[in-house]
Amino acid sequence: MDQERKATNNQVPFDEDNYTHNIRKDKERGLDRRSFMKVMAGAAGVFAVSTLPWGAIAVKELTGLSDKKYAAAKIADVSSLKVGDAVEFHYPGEHDAALLIRLGDNEYKAYQNACTHLKCPVFWSKEEGELLCPCHHGVFDPATGAPTSGPPRRPLPEIVLKQEQGAIWATGVKRYET
Ligand code: FES
Repeated sequence: MDQERKATNNQVPFDEDNYTHNIRKDKERGLDRRSFMKVMAGAAGVFAVSTLPWGAIAVKELTGLSDKKYAAAKIADVSSLKVGDAVEFHYPGEHDAALLIRLGDNEYKAYQNACTHLKCPVFWSKEEGELLCPCHHGVFDPATGAPTSGPPRRPLPEIVLKQEQGAIWATGVKRYET
């Protein structure tokens, strides 16, 4: 009786050969790897293509190849600013302090005046003809915004200007030269 039950329990319910003969595990794993690699390559391609525009923008931003454009804002009437004088204004945001300097009859320069060393406000010294930072004696060239003395190593960001309707307008911010 026991032997009979054993024999029954050991019976294969159907032909094992039919059940397993078409499973080629090695080959299936190979296909899986190939498929996976194809999917990954495809995904990488899609990712690369879809991020290209952002990459181009990032490169421009990091290399300073593009000037930042903002809405034009009137700074001062030409008649209100004598040669050698400067006027404070804010551009492009209300917290972006800047200075417009009239260097000649028809020569104007404007810079954001947060010192490029540690952000102290730079001021215009008419007597010395220089932009000075009082914190650590930083000095900037008013014609270019470049540092000429003291710890600052980068120029002041220059504001793009236009003259129109008897006034000086800010139209953008130049990027740092690299
Ligand atoms: S913050 Fe201007 S020189 Fe240091």
